[in-house]
Amino acid sequence: MRGPDGSLVVGGCDVRDLARVHGTPLFILDEVDFRTRAAAFRTSYAAGDAPATVYYAAKAFLATRIAEWVEQEGLGIDVASGGELAVALAAGFPPARIILHGNNKSVAEIERALSVGVGLIVIDSLVEIERVAEVATRLGVTANVLVRVTVGVEAHTHEFIATAHEDQKFGLSLSNGEAATAVGLIVDRPSLHFAGLHSHIGSQIFDASGFEVAAARIVDLAADLAADGVVIERLDLGGGMGIAYTSHDDPLDVADMAAAIDRIVVKSCERAGIPVPQMAFEPGRAIVGPAGITLYEVGTVKPVQLDHDLVRTFVSVDGGMSDNIRTALYDADYTVVLASRESTAEPMLCRVVGKHCESGDVVVRDAWLPADLNPGDLIAVAGTGAYCRSMASQYNYLPRPAVMAVREGLASTVLRRETEADLMSLDPGAQPGQSSSAPI
Ligand code: LLP
Repeated sequence: MRGPDGSLVVGGCDVRDLARVHGTPLFILDEVDFRTRAAAFRTSYAAGDAPATVYYAAKAFLATRIAEWVEQEGLGIDVASGGELAVALAAGFPPARIILHGNNKSVAEIERALSVGVGLIVIDSLVEIERVAEVATRLGVTANVLVRVTVGVEAHTHEFIATAHEDQKFGLSLSNGEAATAVGLIVDRPSLHFAGLHSHIGSQIFDASGFEVAAARIVDLAADLAADGVVIERLDLGGGMGIAYTSHDDPLDVADMAAAIDRIVVKSCERAGIPVPQMAFEPGRAIVGPAGITLYEVGTVKPVQLDHDLVRTFVSVDGGMSDNIRTALYDADYTVVLASRESTAEPMLCRVVGKHCESGDVVVRDAWLPADLNPGDLIAVAGTGAYCRSMASQYNYLPRPAVMAVREGLASTVLRRETEADLMSLDPGAQPGQSSSAPI
């Protein structure tokens, strides 16, 4: 939305005010947008004939405030590490609504999860069964576990590949029988309760076709297990629902995707002759991604002649690959606009780059921005709520940006900006009067 003099307004706040008070680069999260998406997921996925619980995937972005919003909107949280678990617990998130993932959970992480009463632990390997069983026995608790099954389906945007073998680090293979072996081992352990199966097929999924093959395969496994008397209470089909980063992306909307997956699950279960289990999903990006933008201040604007009639203008901003690694890492594409004002100038072909000492430090590879772009202008990159702040680094000792939540004209700090003191806080030599040498 634009204000009366053309500047971008988010959650009732003018981005120029946000930049002046909180600095740039700045992550801005629209609270109402986040909550609306979270609520849409909860209600849409609960609505079908295979009602599902929705767990927000914390890896997309987590802070205590986010955990509070998630709790208030009635979702669970999927955590992938002890750190994400600690943040959820610090927010007072109910442990029973937390699901713990990880292909290499430490014993300390398992101990913490079981001692606080995390609802579900997802078993990712055969060795982990013994590890979790041992900790549960030692703590005198029963661990509710899901088995993560690698179903040989990989989905990205509207394409998916179904393969027979699964060459990746996550989960237990369906095709070589390890998933079924894992279930057998779990059922035999008194300190473990086999709660069901899990599968996650990929990211940025735009339609339900990948879920169709995955659900059919996993439900067949469930039917085999049921024939051996093993009850499949739950089936968690993971996350991966895609969002539109640019006008070329066209994902199904939340309710349509939920309805399509619901039909697939119900049909698969009918065909396999098993009752529909309690379903679960773990969207991250689709809840927080569109709720966030990154605001940058333009520094250097440098036209580079590519050939005699083609100029590319490099627009350098005050952040870069340290606050958005996705362009460099995945060749991700984003939409960027002039945010501090409107312009009627001709569009020029730009590459929005960061200030890092690396030529791959690109934020938006090809963008059209007005030709009168000037140092001091603010630009906004859309759809950066997911996997930007959560994957941020301090490369070149750039402080990680603040995350501000905006709502009805008010801004509040979700994460404050790092300071120079934060950057040096791990370096004993930078602390006055501290010695860095000590006996081992
Ligand atoms: N559940 C499991 C088991 C997962 O592995 C993931 C993502 C999710 C849920 C959430 O997926 P989402 O709905 O957010 O797509 N850093 C990459 C994405 C990596 C996702 C890894 N797992 C990116 O920036 O695109």
